[in-house]
Amino acid sequence: MADIGIDPWSSNDSTDYDALSDRFGLQKIDLSSIDKPSMLQRRNLVFAHRDLDVPLSAAERGDPFGVLTGLMPSGKMHLGHTMVIEQAKWFQELGADVTVAVADLESVATRGISLEQGRKVAMEEYVSNYAAMGLDPDKTRIYFQSSRPEVQRLAFVLGRRTNLSELGSIYGFGGDTNLAHVQAPLVQVGDILHPMLDEFGGLRPIVVPVGVDQDPHIRLTRDIVSKTQWFNIKNAKPAGILVSLSVQDENKTAFGIGENGRIDKIKRKDVISSVVRLLEDLGFADISPNPSHGTVVIPAATKSDEYRIRERLLELERSMGGLGLMSPASSYHKFAMGLTGGKMSSSKPETTIFLNDSIESMKKKIRKAHSGGQPTVEEHRRLGGNADVDVAYQYLRFFFEQDDSELDQISSRYASGSILAGEMKQICIDRAEEWLSELAEKRTQWSDRLDEYLS
Ligand code: TRP
Repeated sequence: MADIGIDPWSSNDSTDYDALSDRFGLQKIDLSSIDKPSMLQRRNLVFAHRDLDVPLSAAERGDPFGVLTGLMPSGKMHLGHTMVIEQAKWFQELGADVTVAVADLESVATRGISLEQGRKVAMEEYVSNYAAMGLDPDKTRIYFQSSRPEVQRLAFVLGRRTNLSELGSIYGFGGDTNLAHVQAPLVQVGDILHPMLDEFGGLRPIVVPVGVDQDPHIRLTRDIVSKTQWFNIKNAKPAGILVSLSVQDENKTAFGIGENGRIDKIKRKDVISSVVRLLEDLGFADISPNPSHGTVVIPAATKSDEYRIRERLLELERSMGGLGLMSPASSYHKFAMGLTGGKMSSSKPETTIFLNDSIESMKKKIRKAHSGGQPTVEEHRRLGGNADVDVAYQYLRFFFEQDDSELDQISSRYASGSILAGEMKQICIDRAEEWLSELAEKRTQWSDRLDEYLS
């Protein structure tokens, strides 16, 4: 994101995630509402979301839902990139189908990487590691933006629902921004929404696990979706839910509005009756339609009915010729600090561990990593280490130590001074060695079967 304009989420450990969540209206993850939270959720590293209850309730009901995420094939895949794949895997275990975009068009736009180069990097660095990380090939589809016309078509069509000033205010674009940069976010909107098309699984909740720097794209997508929907849902006064027609160029004919703005009363009545019928199907008895206002009030409906109503209205919209798109849900991870204490960056190999790094190179990097230890052993024993800024500890927490009680012990023994900074690094190295070796082994196992993941 940083490359394509303003990056409100400067991704380092001094980021005030709470303040940013407030500013952009992200919801906090409520662990008590999640049956078996993932490791990243338990540690508050996947810390925020939008509408996460929607896919989670689908999972609970055993209804279909999907995950869509993506990464740019812009360089080597590193530890920071694994977090979205871990999240996708967690949703997959709850029953989601997973779609992963290789954002090769975005790499062209923002990094100047050719499509050929992007394809090569994607296969060698990304797809092989997605497989090794354990995504289920039967329920995972990986595609390239450049080879999926439906995504590009959606990007184009939905471009009608935004404009330069909205993109400017979200991304900081100006008059000299090149147009590929302007198109990239729309392609991402296409990525996020296309799994809902009939040929990609149809209408169902889609959740987008990403780093919190991607939230601007989620906001843009949700804003565009709300503009395309043919029916609005609002709270009714004094209680209940009000459904109203959202008249647009696309639906004037279907809604019975003539060239001159005159309303075809019979057609309008039909539309409203269809809405009433779907509400009756859902079990509502008390329904007040008002065809001339284009509204239907359901006084007994509550917030918790909204999703079911929305889903049916989208089906109706589709049957009438609309896109019938649902707002995507999202979940957000924080950023692990770079090895040297600042930002993690693929263009600075000393700041991170690449998934294809050798054990030797990993060891060297961790030994040099920024430490939270005291300057002398004597002081360390007396004052203890600071795990918050200790990269070795933080990498155990973000990536390598699955066991919470083990992690807690390590952190309290560090705080009390009984684990020295060098020992912390050794613990991290041992766990990282296990983790990387296992990954490398799985990569080899999958090396000639990667086709199984590609669409
Ligand atoms: N913009 C993302 C990145 O910078 C990549 C991406 C493209 C993506 N399409 C997506 C992420 C759809 C999530 C969903 O890496």
